[in-house]
Order: sequence, then structure tokens, then C-alpha cells
Amino acid sequence: MSTSILKLTNVCKSFGPIDVLHDISLDIKAGEVLCLLGDNGAGKSTLIRILSGVHRPTSGTILFEGEPASFETPRAAADRGIATVHQFGGTFPLMSIGRSFFVGVEPTKGWGPFKIFDRKKANEVAVKAVRDFGITRIDDGDRLVGGLSGGERQSLAIARAVHFGAKVLILDEPTAALGVKQATHVLRIVHEAKRRGLAVVFITHQVMHAMAVGDHFAVLIRGAVAADFRKGEKTREEITDLMAGGETMANLEAEIEGYMTAHDGHAPQHIGPAV
Ligand SMILES: Nc1ncnc2c1ncn2[C@@H]1O[C@H](COP(=O)(O)OP(=O)(O)OP(=O)(O)O)[C@@H](O)[C@H]1O
Ligand SMILES: [Mg+2]
Repeated sequence: MSTSILKLTNVCKSFGPIDVLHDISLDIKAGEVLCLLGDNGAGKSTLIRILSGVHRPTSGTILFEGEPASFETPRAAADRGIATVHQFGGTFPLMSIGRSFFVGVEPTKGWGPFKIFDRKKANEVAVKAVRDFGITRIDDGDRLVGGLSGGERQSLAIARAVHFGAKVLILDEPTAALGVKQATHVLRIVHEAKRRGLAVVFITHQVMHAMAVGDHFAVLIRGAVAADFRKGEKTREEITDLMAGGETMANLEAEIEGYMTAHDGHAPQHIGPAV
């Protein structure tokens, strides 16, 4: 049985009168990928903002390695080893790979007031860290991050988190804007992070991506955990239906067909709840 790193019990979050999260209880474990699923507006990003110190919960408890924890700032969460990679990799397009890898933790040579950023060393370490994750196309730490592909940027951000000893890696839709090959690469890296013992929280709208890496799944519907299950316990179809907010895909298909019949074969602009 793997150990629990983050344990949420009855976490609620309201913004003024708006209740966004209700009684969220989840166990996030080392060496496991938790896929957080749910439709637009279900509360996924709000939940990870609580875990990464951006928002404070309104009520409920969070245990970090068994101790009550409250992350007052993103920095406080990062210092405890919770690394959050946002959709575009959280990197800096106009910085070199070596420089962006060490933002906030620059290696220095010399001493006292003569400390300077050691570009060569930074580049070496950064390039090695990403190559260890199998991104062999990156071999020059002076290249600008902005020149990398979306998948390479995601991979760089994940490699950076792992290199600096993250215990929890939170990825908010890392594969959303990627093609099949790039997404596969990022999924492989997620797998590698898990193999190295990190707890990974992975948000995606793509069922196949979730099924490819997930050990544990939690589906949010309107801010509550509507389903919490482990790999193999539900079929792809059941997961898709849950992600659509409990509406079955068969119903949606019938709805589209009905619409097309009534509108000379034109597909509807929007199906289901507005996004
Ligand atoms: N600061 C805020 N103040 C008020 N309401 C908010 C705030 N942040 C989020 N919400 C609301 O909370 C709900 C959940 O938003 P959230 O961004 O967590 O959804 P999500 O599951 O990440 O959706 P998506 O899949 O579209 O990214 C939405 O209805 C949103 O409008
Ligand atoms: Mg979101």
C-alpha cells in the first residue's frame, strides 16, 4: 500500500456567496497518478489552486505527510514539494533553457559579492535533467524556451519539478493543446515521475490520456466528488459519461441526430450545457 502524501477531508471552497467545492475528500499517494476529471466549471482548477497555495479552503482539513497543513502562498506549497505545472508549462519564453530551469535557485560560482550565475553549469544540469526523461532533442541549454514545442515545454517543466525534489506534481491539462505524438511523450514522462515515487495529480478532458496513466480517478461534478474509483473499475464509456456530467453519450448522440434531422442535416453549434 503506498503512503498518503496529501489527504483532503471535507474540503469546501466558496467565493463570497458562490459555493464552488463541496466536501471534497481525496487521498493523494506517492507513486500514483490521480486523474482529476470533470466537465468545464466542475471545480478542478479551483481544487488544485487550493493544493498549490493560491486559494485557502473555506473549511475542511488537509494533511500533508500526515500533519495538518495549510499552504498560505504558492511559495509555501512549493517549499513543501508541491510543484504545479500550468497549461503552458509555467516557463518563460524569452529565457534560455538553462536559465529558466534555475529560476529562483540559480547555481553560483565564486563567493560573497562575486557570486555570478554559472551559465555553463546551469545548462549542463538542465540538459541532463531533460535528457534523463528521454527528451533527447534538447541538447543546447542556451536555446530559448519559446523555441520549444508545447510538449517539450511541458516535459521541461516536469523534469525541473522532479529535479528539485517535488513530492507532488500537479498538472493542469498538460496534454490539452498537444498532438498525439507530443501528448504520448508527456504521458510517458508522467509515468516516469510516478515511477520515481512522486504523487501526480493529472487533470485532463481526454479519457484516453487519463486511462493511459491513471491509477486512481476522481470525477468532479458541480464541485463535488461524484465518483472515486481505481484503474480497471470502470469502462471507458462509463468514465466518458461521468465526465459529461452524468449525461450518457448515447443520449447526446440521439440529441445531435434529432437536431440534424430538424435542421436540414446541419450540426448544432453547441451541444449540452453552455461552456
Ligand atoms: N475566484 C473566483 N470567484 C468566483 N467564482 C469562481 C472563482 N474561481 C472559480 N470560480 C467558479 O468556480 C467554478 C469552477 O471553476 P474551475 O476553474 O475550478 O473549473 P474547472 O473544472 O477547472 O473547469 P475547466 O475544465 O473549464 O478548466 C466555475 O463556475 C467558476 O466560475
Ligand atoms: Mg480548469
